[in-house]
Order: sequence, then structure tokens, then C-alpha cells
Amino acid sequence: MEPDTDLIRLQKYIADCGVTSRRRAEIMISEGRVSVNGNIINEQGVKINPQADQVKVDGKIVSLKAESSRKTLLLHKPVGYVSTMEDPQNRPLVKDLYADLKERFYPVGRLDINTSGLLLCTNDGELAYQLMHPRFKFEKEYLITVAGYFGINDLTALKRGVELEDGPAQPLRAWIKQSHSRQSELSMVIGEGRNRQVRRMMAALGFSVISLQRTRLAFLTLAGVKKGSWRWLQKPELDNLRRLAEKGQDDKDGI
Ligand code: URA
Repeated sequence: MEPDTDLIRLQKYIADCGVTSRRRAEIMISEGRVSVNGNIINEQGVKINPQADQVKVDGKIVSLKAESSRKTLLLHKPVGYVSTMEDPQNRPLVKDLYADLKERFYPVGRLDINTSGLLLCTNDGELAYQLMHPRFKFEKEYLITVAGYFGINDLTALKRGVELEDGPAQPLRAWIKQSHSRQSELSMVIGEGRNRQVRRMMAALGFSVISLQRTRLAFLTLAGVKKGSWRWLQKPELDNLRRLAEKGQDDKDGI
């Protein structure tokens, strides 16, 4: 029998190969798009031996990436682009903005079509996992324009936390930039990234969002990256992200 230490979860292997995120890999498995040694696997929890087993996604063999070929880019997403790899409605995709690149880089998490700002796209499954998992608590900062006057009482209520349908939500920090009767601007830092979280938090306080921009992820900002353009993350930045992830918490799901 093979020692268990050689085995790794199928969805983690697919993510480590740079195909997609672990969460998306689980969906691909349940859709019957993944085979191991020629057998379609459509249940979760299967482990494989990367040295011995052949894994195919959509009929194509996938293999682990060497450290040197793992890359991540920082994109300044404009409004109007969808941050999935495919769109049944044929709307513009964020990957269209780096279509010159031969390799497949998938977005780390999502920004809504109407949200602009900082989005990382990677072929590094491990990094994507760490950035997306709430356990690692990478700070995300948003610049929010809401309709109407957002005053100090609203800020206090926001800081106290709001009840959302998927549980309570509280910013790590929030501050008002300007308040006018027609519209107001505030900044908010959150550690998690639930679906449409910022918009839902604002709605819980009775505000509708006019515009939303992600301005920061951990220590990364949009400085020097124009709307619609991107740049590669440099090695010290990648090392720093990994260091922050390790400081976060032990990755108990890592195998
Ligand atoms: N919160 C939202 O509501 N939308 C985003 O795109 C990101 C965070």
C-alpha cells in the first residue's frame, strides 16, 4: 500500500496544476469533467498520487507547475467585465484584458461586473487558495460611493456590524471620506470576501451603492496600473503574500 503522505486531494492537485481554484475544481469534478487513470471521478474526497496517477480535465492531461512557471498578475478591472473564465451571456471577460498571454490565468475570487479595481489573476493554485480562504484574512479595501447622506450614525452602525442572510458582517475598519445630501464616499476594509458583501452591507444600512472600487488587497494597491491594464507581481511581492498567509493560520485543509 502507498503511504498516505504521497496522496493529495484531487481538487487541490487540479488547482496546483493551475487549471482553476479548488472550489471550481470541485464543481468540475461533480460535472464529470475530471478523470483519473481513464476513469471519470464525480464524487468528492478522492485522493491521488501525483507521481503515479494520470489526471485529465476535459480530456486533457494536467501536470504540476514548476515554481518558476507560477505567475500572478495584478489587473485594474474596469466596470463591465465579468470575472469568470466563461460567461453564458457572452459579456466581456476580465481574461480578454490579458488575451495576449498564451497561458491561462484565472481570477482570484470575484469582483462584480459593476465593481472596478484590484483583481489578481494567477496560474498558482496554492496562492489562489490562500488568498481566497477566509482563514487567511487578507485585507481588502473598498472605496464606496453611496446615494444620499452617509453620516456618523451610519458609520457607527456599520462599525457595529450588520446582519446578512449568510451571517453577521463587520468591517475591520471604515471611515467617511465625504458626505453630501446627494451622495457620500466612504472607505471600508474587510477580511472576508463573501458574494456581493459590500453591496449587501450597505443595503442592510439602507444605502444603495453608486460605485464600488477595490483599492487594496493586503499591501498591494492600484498604484501605476491604469484602468484596463495589468502588471506582473514581482517575487518579493509573492514572497510577502506567502509570508502573510503563513502568519494567518495553519492550513489544515492543505493536503
Ligand atoms: N463586495 C461587493 O459587493 N462586490 C464586489 O465586487 C466586491 C465586494
